[in-house]
Amino acid sequence: MHLELDDPKLECKSCHETVDTARAAGRPSTEKCLSCHSGKTDSAELKKLEIFAEKKTEIPWERIWRLPQDVTFSHRQHVSVAQMECQTCHGDFKSLERPAPRPLKTLSMTECMACHERWRWPADTPEVVASRPIAADCNACHR
Ligand code: HEC
Ligand code: HEC
Ligand code: HEC
Ligand code: HEC
Ligand code: HEC
Repeated sequence: MHLELDDPKLECKSCHETVDTARAAGRPSTEKCLSCHSGKTDSAELKKLEIFAEKKTEIPWERIWRLPQDVTFSHRQHVSVAQMECQTCHGDFKSLERPAPRPLKTLSMTECMACHERWRWPADTPEVVASRPIAADCNACHR
């Protein structure tokens, strides 16, 4: 429902602030939520937010998307350099009314590989924006 707002307009990055600069996308702080939800409320969900606000603590959001431990991944390289949409890997978030209980979509190794293989020979790929060939050998992702 937050993505339908017009003023102020929220986008994925408004709440996942480090998604184009770091490995992790990051979570919004309680303070961020309070910048809009500071008044009194009848909503049971927003009353929960008030409790975190009074205690001045962060909400322990659940982690849903997770790669196997040995696989490495960085958002910055994909969102900022490869200019991929969140939806390509995460599915249709815009229509959600509450946090996803499980991943809507995940990328299999074959899908990661398919793109890396294409980017490996830049001459064949008109959409190339990377400044260098991308590794597609096993230890590029498995460490
Ligand atoms: C190339 C695929 C890909 C794209 C594009 C992508 N993600 Fe992710 N995202 C992942 C993977 C894989 C994980 C799990 C990472 C791990 O386990 O180390 C993840 C984890 C996350 C997480 C939870 C952990 C964290 O990093 O904080 C959030 C939140 C997230 N993504 C938001 C976003 C948003 C917002 C965008 C768009 C701006 C986006 N992602 C674009 C693949 C992607
Ligand atoms: C830019 C302003 C803004 C920010 C930031 C924001 N919200 Fe909201 N939120 C709204 C508005 C406006 C609505 C009402 C949308 C509607 O009813 O269509 C809403 C609705 C909600 C609701 C549903 C309330 C109900 O009716 O029960 C919850 C829960 C909620 N927000 C939690 C959060 C949390 C948690 C955060 C921080 C992660 C957050 N919001 C950040 C503006 C914001
Ligand atoms: C109002 C703030 C807000 C906006 C806007 C927002 N998110 Fe989130 N997002 C959150 C919060 C808070 C969580 C943690 C929810 C939980 O764990 O239950 C979350 C969780 C996620 C996760 C799951 C991470 C994990 O593994 O636990 C992904 C993926 C994600 N968001 C992607 C997106 C995408 C894509 C967009 C834009 C289409 C978006 N978000 C817009 C606040 C937001
Ligand atoms: C649509 C294309 C695309 C997909 C899908 C994709 N990647 Fe990438 N990936 C890239 C590009 C482009 C770069 C290089 C960015 C740069 O130049 O720094 C990259 C870089 C990387 C790197 C750093 C490698 C290096 O040479 O520095 C790792 C690790 C990585 N990706 C893992 C993954 C994983 C894991 C997945 C699947 C969950 C995935 N990628 C899916 C395009 C993609
Ligand atoms: C572009 C990134 C990428 C490259 C390159 C890559 N993998 Fe993976 N691999 C993944 C991801 C993401 C997963 C987890 C998702 C899945 O199982 O499909 C995975 C899962 C696996 C698994 C399952 C066990 C586990 O780690 O949980 C094995 C085994 C594996 N890879 C072997 C290989 C081998 C061998 C190569 C070299 C030929 C390779 N991978 C190259 C991304 C990659």
